[in-house]
Amino acid sequence: MNALEIRNKFLNYFKNHGHSIIPSAPLIPENDPSVLFTTAGMHPLVPYLLGEVHPAGTKLADYQKCLRTVDIDEVGDNRHLTFFEMLGNWSLGEYFKKESIKYSMEFLTKELNIPVEKLSVTCFKGDEDAPRDEETAKIWEENGMPKERIYFFGKEDNWWIAGETGPCGPDTEIFYDTGKEPCSKECNPSCGCGKYVEIWNNVFMEYYKDAEGNYTKLKQRNVDTGLGLERINMLLQGKETPFDTEIFKPMMDKLESLAKNDNLSSRRIIAEHLRSSMMIIADGGKPSNIDRGYILRRLIRRMIRHLNKIGIELDKLKELIDLNIEILGEMYPDLVQNKENIINTILAEKDKFMKTLENGEKELQKELSKLKAKGEDTLSAEEVFRLYETYGFPQEVTKEISEENGFKIDLRKL
Ligand code: ALA
Repeated sequence: MNALEIRNKFLNYFKNHGHSIIPSAPLIPENDPSVLFTTAGMHPLVPYLLGEVHPAGTKLADYQKCLRTVDIDEVGDNRHLTFFEMLGNWSLGEYFKKESIKYSMEFLTKELNIPVEKLSVTCFKGDEDAPRDEETAKIWEENGMPKERIYFFGKEDNWWIAGETGPCGPDTEIFYDTGKEPCSKECNPSCGCGKYVEIWNNVFMEYYKDAEGNYTKLKQRNVDTGLGLERINMLLQGKETPFDTEIFKPMMDKLESLAKNDNLSSRRIIAEHLRSSMMIIADGGKPSNIDRGYILRRLIRRMIRHLNKIGIELDKLKELIDLNIEILGEMYPDLVQNKENIINTILAEKDKFMKTLENGEKELQKELSKLKAKGEDTLSAEEVFRLYETYGFPQEVTKEISEENGFKIDLRKL
């Protein structure tokens, strides 16, 4: 099975269970300047979680493009992605815990054929804002989940809210056991050692958190679920990373064949950032020095830096974009429709960046040599700022190059 087949299976399953299928909203939220990008399936649906009537009904299923950049510096390891797709089923004041858990269990074990022995779940353990979610645990048991694989954790693990305020609630998360050895006697789904991988979150959204931190009941009880497509695809294919699946593998292989001095982490950064950049541009994003545009600029520029680093000529960029459209076009027809714009935007940004890099890197190398001669190991905040202000040399590039050369940078005063 591949990612597109999983997406179709998911949508069909929920369609057969009375849900209307709604298409992905754009990555750039419409009418919401408070967030830069859609970071979860719930973003476009907030008004309906609060009670507005959705034109497609009260039971929905979707496949939402999401972008999260908090972990952007982690991309290059074996799991972090900035762009990902979240499959979700929604009840807007309609069904609640019983049906939602039944659907999840049935879809995972009957449609995707995951043995129940591979699964464990977590539930909300309760606090002063909301009670311990015994009801959810009981429903899991009724659906065949053994008691010893049902865990309880606090808000940090089992409560979902997008941002600081808004609709929210306790959640129950489903984990897949990769079969790795437990990290300790206490090894459990929340320990983060990698044995357990979270695959699906069911949020029982019946609260509203206000700016004072008070929780009140919403006028309707909703369900918001999120199943990470790249992750489940990777696990079902028995792969260690999403970069080994069909979504990235042809690009990873192509980069390997072009690289003059190969580096796995750089190839992952290039493949990941190119995909995200293309998605943002297809949804109307343009590189700039602020907000959304800056994130896009940063993704493109970091990708270019790593192309340079592993010795891939930048005139290969168009070929790489074409390849990505081949790989992803069926899943994301927007990429095909916006092909010209994507190519033009990325190539124009490359030209701008090359000018900046040339000037800034020379200057930075000069400064690093001076530090070396003085036996110092830290580039000052003033210098980082001067490189940015005078040469437009991005801070994160200064950091990366400095670190590659064995120097730290001091950001305390920036
Ligand atoms: N909104 C929930 C999440 O993103 C499903 O995990």
